Amino acid sequence: MSSKVLDIIKERFSVREYQDRPVEQEKLDLVLEAARLAPSASNSQPWHFYVVRDKEKIRALAGEMPLGTRNIMNSFIARAPVVIVATAGPISLLHRAASFIVNRRWYYMDIGIALEHMVLTAWELGLGSCWIGWFSEKKVRKLLDIPKDQEVVAMLTLGYSAEARLSAPKRRKPLSEIVNYF
Ligand SMILES: Cc1cc2nc3c(=O)[nH]c(=O)nc-3n(C[C@H](O)[C@H](O)[C@H](O)COP(=O)(O)O)c2cc1C
Repeated sequence: MSSKVLDIIKERFSVREYQDRPVEQEKLDLVLEAARLAPSASNSQPWHFYVVRDKEKIRALAGEMPLGTRNIMNSFIARAPVVIVATAGPISLLHRAASFIVNRRWYYMDIGIALEHMVLTAWELGLGSCWIGWFSEKKVRKLLDIPKDQEVVAMLTLGYSAEARLSAPKRRKPLSEIVNYF
């Protein structure tokens, strides 16, 4: 048996070096469409995506790292042609209450699914990407003028890979360690 999705999952790796080449709007549209169609808790679709292509803003995003870590963490962001900032919100009172009762922040899951849809679609279109979880929310919010009722959940860099490798070995735990059958 074979699976096209699994083939993409196996091939994909985080790309941290990018060509100085713009991403075509047509490809960007498909990547965003993959996010739009993602499932979400109660179909709440709590996401908003800020697509940053302005070089100066991207350089600023790369500089806005917590605790002065910009030289060791994520400086590669500055050389990405596109950065997508994903936010969640506004979250309705009912959703917040339900979330509180079961102690689950569904919107984190929703954004995670949407972003990974983007990552896999991008890879299929020949584009590399990298998740960014290490950033200063306060600074990103200020830079992009993100409203208070939205929480910045994660970012993605996106662009044509300039990495020498075409694939990377997966360092993952074996199934026997992570699965229990009952
Ligand atoms: C939620 C999340 C946050 C991440 N944050 C960062 C980050 O801030 N900087 C970075 O270089 N990589 C980041 N990564 C990428 C991981 O380091 C990478 O996915 C992991 O090492 C596995 O490697 P692979 O993606 O090449 O298979 C993040 C990944 C996820 C899922």
